[in-house]
Amino acid sequence: MAYTKPNEAHGPRLAGLGPRGDVELDSMLEMAPYDPTPYYNWSFPDRGRLEIGSASHRDAFCRLLTDTYNPYKPAVIPWPTLSAEELARLAALPFWDTAVAIEGRASLRMQWQADRLDDRVIADALSLNAAEERRHKEVLHNMLTFYRIELGPEPVYLPPRDPEFGFLRTGFGECINSFFAFGLFDMARSSGFFPPALVETFEPVIQEEARHIMFFVNYVAYRRKRLGLLKRLWFDLKCLIAIAEQFASRIGMAIETRRRRGKVKSNFLTAGANSVAKGFSKRTFFQLCLSENDRRMAGYDARLLRPMMMPRIVALMLKFGRA
Ligand SMILES: [Fe+2]
Ligand SMILES: [Fe+2]
Repeated sequence: MAYTKPNEAHGPRLAGLGPRGDVELDSMLEMAPYDPTPYYNWSFPDRGRLEIGSASHRDAFCRLLTDTYNPYKPAVIPWPTLSAEELARLAALPFWDTAVAIEGRASLRMQWQADRLDDRVIADALSLNAAEERRHKEVLHNMLTFYRIELGPEPVYLPPRDPEFGFLRTGFGECINSFFAFGLFDMARSSGFFPPALVETFEPVIQEEARHIMFFVNYVAYRRKRLGLLKRLWFDLKCLIAIAEQFASRIGMAIETRRRRGKVKSNFLTAGANSVAKGFSKRTFFQLCLSENDRRMAGYDARLLRPMMMPRIVALMLKFGRA
């Protein structure tokens, strides 16, 4: 993949990044070799404690996104030539429609929330997150077009009535999806399911999700901490409903997939696992998800929170033999 390097105006000075942040970002970039080191290893420059809910905590989790922005451009990704067998394997993956829809919906909900926030620091970082989701969708679109893999009609994404609740639903959904995607991606790499050139192309996309979910859990903790008791209880309830809804929809889709024996296209997780993880035990897969989850976030400031929901659930399942 061709990388370019952000110019000096990049990083914390992303103020003003609007709904069309990707376009504005593009115009801020200059063509030069890109150094991916901060993309994987980044710390907030101010030392000392980062108390949850403090202004420095907010600046740190926002700069986690803005300082580590990777300016790859979907339009110039050189898609590798695939053998007939590799192409057939890629085309047979049953989750492309869903993956495109997830990115489109995430982008809309994040931007919807960002445009309604009074805090410009968080709004700018969240706009960047939304722009990255749009870019994920573009990468997928370009890849499917290049390999002539047919995509069904894209759904119409409606803005949520409660912008924050929409963002919470997407954020917790990303925490679940990304945790498994980390393991699936590594499995696809090590098993040769994806050819190395394609793995390399998608690597920054997967790492972007690690940054996104770290940003999200820190946002939730920051927001929570700054609310009074009653509003905090209301916020907690919204989080719980969002989490329950995300799990329920995935369990529902898993049951549906099993019932229809892989004929539905909509199940991102189980369909992906069934296709890529053939021959791996569930336990091996879950262990890989845990280790990849840790590895992908290990290089970021240790004072920031990490998503713990999925690692804890899966660690418990492993401990008590449910996997
Ligand atoms: Fe994404
Ligand atoms: Fe994301």
